Amino acid sequence: MEERKLKLGGIIDGVGWNYTGWRHPHIPADASENIEYYVQKAKQLEQGKFDLIFLADVSHIGPGMIPHYLSMFEGVSILSALSMVTHSIGLTATIATSYADPFTVARQIASLDKISKGRAGWNAITSNPGGLANYSRSHLKKADLYPMKKEFLEIVEGLWDSYEDDAFIRDKERGVFYDPRKMHPLHYTGNYFSVEGPLNISRSRQGRPVVFQAGTSPAFMDVAAQHAEVIMAPGHDLEYLKAFTEELKRKVQNQGRSPHDLLMMPSHNPIVGETEKDALEKLREIESWMPQGYRMPKPGLMGSAEHVAEQIEHWYREGVMDILLIRQDHPAGFKDFIELVVPILQDRGIFRKEYEEDTLRGNLGLPYPENKYTK
Ligand SMILES: Cc1cc2nc3c(=O)[nH]c(=O)nc-3n(C[C@H](O)[C@H](O)[C@H](O)COP(=O)(O)O)c2cc1C
Repeated sequence: MEERKLKLGGIIDGVGWNYTGWRHPHIPADASENIEYYVQKAKQLEQGKFDLIFLADVSHIGPGMIPHYLSMFEGVSILSALSMVTHSIGLTATIATSYADPFTVARQIASLDKISKGRAGWNAITSNPGGLANYSRSHLKKADLYPMKKEFLEIVEGLWDSYEDDAFIRDKERGVFYDPRKMHPLHYTGNYFSVEGPLNISRSRQGRPVVFQAGTSPAFMDVAAQHAEVIMAPGHDLEYLKAFTEELKRKVQNQGRSPHDLLMMPSHNPIVGETEKDALEKLREIESWMPQGYRMPKPGLMGSAEHVAEQIEHWYREGVMDILLIRQDHPAGFKDFIELVVPILQDRGIFRKEYEEDTLRGNLGLPYPENKYTK
């Protein structure tokens, strides 16, 4: 099997995933609800040949939350807009299974997948129980979240196979729109959700959107082993991640799946410069718009571009970083990473120079999922 190259993802989170970044002169103070800002970042990441754009989310807010969360767009809406100004980059939205409705989510993400011509991903998370009160589910408890998530995923995956790939004939001459034998209702009855189906949308060029998940607990791992294709993981500790990955891949194998079809995606907040000193100056600059005297913990990936590329290759070769997901506090963060680090990763032969495919699944090297009714 040909070695899979490193993949890259970028989180766009408006004014930043911090309290003070919005004050920087180069960040529009309304970036979290400024579609032009998202368009600019999306195009930049696509020029850098990134595999995917990733949007994190929040489901309940209150005083004390980061500015980004206080007034932001909903993810699928943003990605639908971005799909019209990009061509190859993947588009992944976070929607929590604890709050949403599976039929609606299946429909939204499948629509994004068709609108973007096969580039959608869905990050299925439980989120924390705080959001239950916003979605009329205050009667549920934390212990409900994973059993509910399991049902949610079974339903969404089932709905995405509602039509076999050749169900729609659309023959004007003969007046045959589709073949009803290739339409499959779901008839799902669970403890939390009951869904009859079928879903009113056919499959996309990548078969099904790519399923991402984020979490760490044993309950998380059990559901992920069955349903996840990409795992977003905390990226601060290599040894922890090695143990986590090993255990998760064992569980994947126990489910009869190939561990090769599960990609690990730790997230990092790299600070790079041409030299070590440049990177340090950038760290100090970020600190300078934080509360006085605040010292930011040094990120795991920090230093000269050469040094950062070296570290990335190390994590990649250790088998814990199939995708490097980066988020940035500094307004020039993506630019620096793309101009300084990406060429080194390309020279080392571990990152692409051109997109291989134009679907998310294709670029990630994940297999095409055959419709369960034709398997
Ligand atoms: C890497 C990572 C990313 C996450 N991203 C989000 C997010 O964007 N929005 C959210 O509401 N929760 C997010 N979560 C929280 C999870 O959905 C979940 O509530 C949390 O991990 C606790 O569950 P666990 O103990 O099973 O991991 C994230 C968790 C992890 C580990």
